[in-house]
Formats: sequence, structure tokens, C-alpha cells
Amino acid sequence: MGKAHANLSAQDRLKQDAARAALDLIKPKLTTTSVVGVGTGSTTNFFIDALAEIKHVFDAAVSSSEASAQRLRNHGIHVLDLNAAPRVDVYVDGADEVNPVGQLIKGGGAALTREKIVASAADEFICIVDESKVVDTLGQFPLPVEVIPMARSLVGRGLVDLGGQPVWREGVTTDNGNWILDVHEFMVADPLVMETAINNLAGVVCNGLFAINAADTVLVAAGSGVTQLQSRDT
Ligand code: 5RP
Repeated sequence: MGKAHANLSAQDRLKQDAARAALDLIKPKLTTTSVVGVGTGSTTNFFIDALAEIKHVFDAAVSSSEASAQRLRNHGIHVLDLNAAPRVDVYVDGADEVNPVGQLIKGGGAALTREKIVASAADEFICIVDESKVVDTLGQFPLPVEVIPMARSLVGRGLVDLGGQPVWREGVTTDNGNWILDVHEFMVADPLVMETAINNLAGVVCNGLFAINAADTVLVAAGSGVTQLQSRDT
């Protein structure tokens, strides 16, 4: 076992392997003017820790959450507000589920809205997962939907009409001051259609389907190594 893997669970080792593979992929492309978009979650935390090793190679990061911004700053990485970033070269983030064409469910950490914003702003979206996240059909993981608090019940009824079983993630307030409904029993046959349908419910801020902006590249870590699942361009 490598030193970097010391004291990690088997799943965390895979998350770290995926994160390091992303670093290897982006490092040759970075310049001193590059801006790196950074996601949220335990897999992304491994990426942030790895990114710190090359912090002098790029200009700054844009973060998808207060938590990731704090971790980046703790490493001495300059964090830019997205409005101040001339461009975002690449966005790296984990996911809760990935299907074979790189469409995702995200938002387990309640950061889906800012994640979708930074992913949309980036020239390239690299998703990093361990093999447990790969599924044939999205939806075994409850789909997070960020809602304006006053619309929680209204949106909930709309999600039932769409075929799901929404459950309020009580006690959680997003970085944007909103609430989360997790939609259970909701296998998503057509992620593009469902992402749009949920977005069209009044009171929805964002939903955790990333199909309109799927990942360009998905790096999947397994015991046998890290492989590239899918490229949107191939
Ligand atoms: C946070 C997210 C995360 O990327 C997702 O929940 C995966 O997290 P982890 O890497 O901890 O398994 O979408 O909102």
C-alpha cells in the first residue's frame, strides 16, 4: 500500500485514486492564468488536497460550496468568485450516480445548484467517482431537488405527479438559503426530459440531474485501476 493510502477505507482509497487521476489529466493543460472549478464532497476533498501540490501552476479556483472554498483557502489556493473569473478552464467534481453516457445524479451534499453553475461555466467537466457510483439507470440514489422554502409543499406535489416520492431533508439549508427535497422511488428513464420537467416546476431552484450538462469525462476508480467511462464528445 502506498503512503498516500495509509489509514483510508477501501472506498476512500478509490476516491483518492480517482482524484489523483483527474490531477494527472488536467496538470499538463494548466497555465498560470488557468482557473480550476472545484466541486463538493468527499471525493472532491481528495482532489482539493492533490490540487494543493500544484497550486503554483494555475491562477485560482472557483468553488461550488462554502465548504470547498474553505478547504481550498486552507491549502493557500486563491478562490475567486465566479463573477470575477474571466473563464473556468476545467471543473472537477464527484457524483452520487453516473450512467453509461456520463449523465449524473448529484447533490448528496446539498451543493447541486452551485455545482451545476460552475460545471456549466467550465470549458470541460471531469467527474471523479469510485466504481460503486456507476449504474445503468439513474435513480436508485434519491434525486436531490433544491427548492425555495415557501414552495416546498407545492414542488413536492409536482414531484409526486412526475412519479416520485419526495422527502424533505429536514434541518438542511443550502448555501443559497434554500431547502432540499430528496425524490425516492424515481428511476429516471430519460434524464434530459426529466431534468427539464423538474426545472419547470415553479419554486424549483435546481435539480440534481446533470444531463443537459453531462460530464465530458468520467474517471472511475476500481481495485484494478482508474478507467475513463465516457466522453460526451465520442
Ligand atoms: C455534493 C455532491 C457530491 O459530488 C456527491 O454527493 C458525491 O459525494 P462524495 O464524493 O462524498 O461521495 O453532489 O452536492
